[in-house]
Amino acid sequence: ADQRRESLYVISARAGKFFQDVMWNTEEGKTIGLGYFRERGFRDDVLKKFELGYSPDSWDAFIETALKEGYKENFIEEAGLAIRNDKGRLYDRFRARVLFPIHSFTGRIIGFGGRTLKTDKKVPKYVNSPESEIYHKSDVLYGLYFAKKAIRDADNCYLVEGYADVLSVHQAGIENVVASSGTSLTSAQVRLIGRFTKNITILYDGDAAGIKASLRGLDMILEEGLNVRVVLFPDGHDPDSYVHSLGSAAFKSHIEKNQKDFILFKTSVLLKDAGNDPIKRAGVIREVVESIAKIPDSIKASVFVRECSSLMQIDERSLITELNKLRQGKL
Ligand code: UTP
Ligand code: MN
Ligand code: MN
Ligand code: MN
Ligand code: MN
Repeated sequence: ADQRRESLYVISARAGKFFQDVMWNTEEGKTIGLGYFRERGFRDDVLKKFELGYSPDSWDAFIETALKEGYKENFIEEAGLAIRNDKGRLYDRFRARVLFPIHSFTGRIIGFGGRTLKTDKKVPKYVNSPESEIYHKSDVLYGLYFAKKAIRDADNCYLVEGYADVLSVHQAGIENVVASSGTSLTSAQVRLIGRFTKNITILYDGDAAGIKASLRGLDMILEEGLNVRVVLFPDGHDPDSYVHSLGSAAFKSHIEKNQKDFILFKTSVLLKDAGNDPIKRAGVIREVVESIAKIPDSIKASVFVRECSSLMQIDERSLITELNKLRQGKL
C-alpha cells in the first residue's frame, strides 16, 4: 500500500513538472497559459513558487508522455490525471486549463485544480482532482506548505475561498494564507491550522454565498476551540479582485481595519435583516448565543456573553440562562 501511495506521489510530481514545462517552454503554453496568469496580475516568481502550469488543448498530451516514460495506465488514472470514457479510452482530465497544483503540507503534489480559460458558463470554472489514496480533499488546505512558517510567525492564519485568492494575497506580502478550496470548511482543516496557530481570520468572498460560508466556518472554528475573526469584502469582490483593485498596501490596511470578532460580524450581518423588529432581534441574539455555546472554554465563552450583552443591550443573566440550556442540550 505504501508502494502504491509512493507511485501516486511520483506520477503527480511528474504531471506537475509536465504542466510547468508546457507553460514556460511551449508556444501554446506561453501564449495561453502564462499569458492568462500574467493578464491576471500574477508575478512570475509567484507562478514559479506555487508551481503553476498549463495543460495543452489535447486529448492525451500528458498520457502520451507518461506512457512513453513507462508510467502505468492505472496509476495515471488513479492519480486522477486521466479519465476513462465509455469506450475504455483514457483522456487527459485537465486539458486546456491552467493548473494549480495542490501540495501536502510537506510540499509534495497530491492533486490539481484546473481553471478553464473559457468564459462560457456551461463549462465548469474549476475541475479538481478526485479523491485518491494520497488526496483527501477534506483534510487538505491549499497553500499550507507555503504558508506554515508565516502562520507561526504571525500567530494568525488568513482563510480564503479560492486558489487565486491565496496567490494574490501571498503576492501582496501576506504569506500566512490558505484556502479551503470549494469545500465548506471541515474540522480536520481547522485542526490542521491549529497545529500552527490558534487564530484564524476568515476572508471569504463578499457575496451571499461567502457570507453564509463565513457564518458556517466561524461555528466550525469555535467548536474546535480556536479564535476567529472575519473580514467582509464589498459585494462582488473576493480577496484576489480586491488586492488588484486597491493595491497591496491599501488591501492590508483594509483587512486590518475591518476585522471583526465573530459576535460583531454575526450581529452586523444578521441585524441587517432584522431591522427594529423585536422578535427578529431576539432571534439574532439567540443565534449569537448558539455560536457562543460552541466554545469549549467556559471562561472565554463568558467574555463573549458580556460583549453580546453590552452590544445588544440585554441582561447578561438571561444570556447565561440561554447558554446553559444550549450547553445541557449538548451533554
Ligand atoms: P470562486 O467561484 O469564488 O472562484 O470559487 P475564484 O477562486 O474566485 O475563481 P477565479 O478568481 O475566477 O479564478 C472559489 C473556489 O471554489 C472552488 C475553487 O477552489 C475556487 O478557487 N471551485 C469553484 C471549484 O472547485 N469548482 C468550481 O466550479 C468553482
Ligand atoms: Mn481521510
Ligand atoms: Mn465565490
Ligand atoms: Mn472567488
Ligand atoms: Mn476570484
